[in-house]
Amino acid sequence: MAQISSDITSAAEWLKNGDVVAIPTETVYGLAGNALDKAAIGRVFDVKKRPRQNPLIVHLAGIDRLEEFVTHIPNNARLLAQHFWPGPLTMVLPKSDCISMSVTAGQDTVAVRVPDHPLTLGLLAALPFPLVAPSANPYGYISPTTAEHVERQLGEHIPFILDGGPCKKGIESTIIGFNGETPVIYRAGSLPVSAIEAVVGHVEHHKPGQKGVITAGMSASHYAPRTPLYLTQAAATLRLSMPDGRYGLLSFRQQHDISGWAQQIVLSPTGNLEEAGSRLYESLHTLDEAGLDAIIAEFVPNTGLGEALNDRLRRAALHVLE
Ligand code: TXA
Ligand code: MG
Repeated sequence: MAQISSDITSAAEWLKNGDVVAIPTETVYGLAGNALDKAAIGRVFDVKKRPRQNPLIVHLAGIDRLEEFVTHIPNNARLLAQHFWPGPLTMVLPKSDCISMSVTAGQDTVAVRVPDHPLTLGLLAALPFPLVAPSANPYGYISPTTAEHVERQLGEHIPFILDGGPCKKGIESTIIGFNGETPVIYRAGSLPVSAIEAVVGHVEHHKPGQKGVITAGMSASHYAPRTPLYLTQAAATLRLSMPDGRYGLLSFRQQHDISGWAQQIVLSPTGNLEEAGSRLYESLHTLDEAGLDAIIAEFVPNTGLGEALNDRLRRAALHVLE
């Protein structure tokens, strides 16, 4: 069992000692270690059982620290950082020498962001080093949005969880790289692409398989519950075609006739995508622990933040019925 507490000083002590601790962010909980210490970085990979070819995000205390860790900052990167940091935007930029290849999986770029959570900003300000922090879930499983999720998944393997309450956004950061001055979207996330476009105009979309970029978190199966999940536009119809059993329903706003379902979760009765985002992983955790034969989930509207939610649902799904 890990100690669960909101004491920044204890978290800082563990980290200064080379240990890994879970930290809250506005997106999901992260599994943090000293970004400048190879042993701590190795421990982060080990605890998560994460393949070493999947690079880590470096979390900084503020925009003023950026120049220590990257060698080139496009004007649009600076503009976006000024607009959205602290916040759920991760930028991939050319790394400086102090960032080791074990962080970047052998690439000469590093992913950086300033997370928007008061406890973690306080912690970063108290430390003489930045923190690598992948999501604090075992590799491939649903990301954690509460300290309890972390405790259940990784509690045996880490000494300390910094408890900052439930994550406000609930979906990982949006990751971008740059093609010259043009942002390239690598991973849809909590910051809608339209918000980035509003600041810098045009953006490009990364094509899967495009050379020169490792985005292993983009692997097709990820964020997945252990219970088989079916993703569809029409849950009731799909349910009728399935054999008898205990089925859970995850819908966006519509409550369905209760009789066919062992459990139902409506992500946002008012149809609000931000509310749905903040509840998606929590809901998948709940359904995964309910002893169901299968989870049937419905797509959310594919606009704004909905793109990131549908992306996560697709990766969580065993079968996608378009
Ligand atoms: O919201 C978030 O981003 C959370 C919180 C804890 O900050 N972190 C997170 O980390 O989602 P993780 O490790 O689960 O996902 C990081 C993603 C991976 O898909 C990885 O491949 C990509 O970032 N990434 C890291 N460095 C990269 C690089 N140099 N080039 C391209 N992609 C990179
Ligand atoms: Mg992750």
